[in-house]
Amino acid sequence: MKLFLDTADLVIIQKYAAWGLVDGVTTNPSLIAKEGMDLEKRVKEIASIIHGPISAEVLSTEAKDMIEEGRRYAKWASNICIKCPMTPNGLLAAQTLSKEGIAVNVTLVFSAAQALLAAKAGAAFVSPFVGRVDDAGQDGMELISEIIEIYKNYQFKTEIIVASIRSPRQVALSAIMGAHVCTIPPDIYGKLFRHPLTDQGIKKFLDDWSKAKKK
Ligand code: E4P
Repeated sequence: MKLFLDTADLVIIQKYAAWGLVDGVTTNPSLIAKEGMDLEKRVKEIASIIHGPISAEVLSTEAKDMIEEGRRYAKWASNICIKCPMTPNGLLAAQTLSKEGIAVNVTLVFSAAQALLAAKAGAAFVSPFVGRVDDAGQDGMELISEIIEIYKNYQFKTEIIVASIRSPRQVALSAIMGAHVCTIPPDIYGKLFRHPLTDQGIKKFLDDWSKAKKK
């Protein structure tokens, strides 16, 4: 399973890239706004560090304008992926851009039926938001399992990006289920490395070692 970072923070991206474990990055308008940066400048900076897909979201709501935006973003770097929202206009744009060979990530997906439409529109990626589904009182990981089943039934090539991740367990479950990608906020990514028993184990080994040396 590929691991993407869900952030537009360049310092964090550089830090995590050093481990060689970042396969791509997803941004959204909220994440770019948080950085107080120009979208084009920041996305180009990210694309110079990470060579996997970098998702940049269109800001228009009309299909024609989304298509223009998508074509413009796609020229910023060879690994740019255009995020189109899961709306009727977003799907029109997704279909046109995909036919032109531009990778599209259909975002803000909350149902299996929406994921089916995104795949039929030829999207390279679909982003179901599991955390927000859970927040709404439904089961986000159940949604992932349904989408995996649908895509398997019809051999769709669209890759599932499990998004809106809130815990390391959701990352593990995504891998168990066979999702293609998880996009992970930095705080949760950091937690993937950790387990209290690992820390306790290291402490005990080092304590035992120094006690033995003193004898
Ligand atoms: C995905 O591409 C989105 O950027 C992201 O996962 C949204 O997550 P949130 O629900 O934590 O804002």
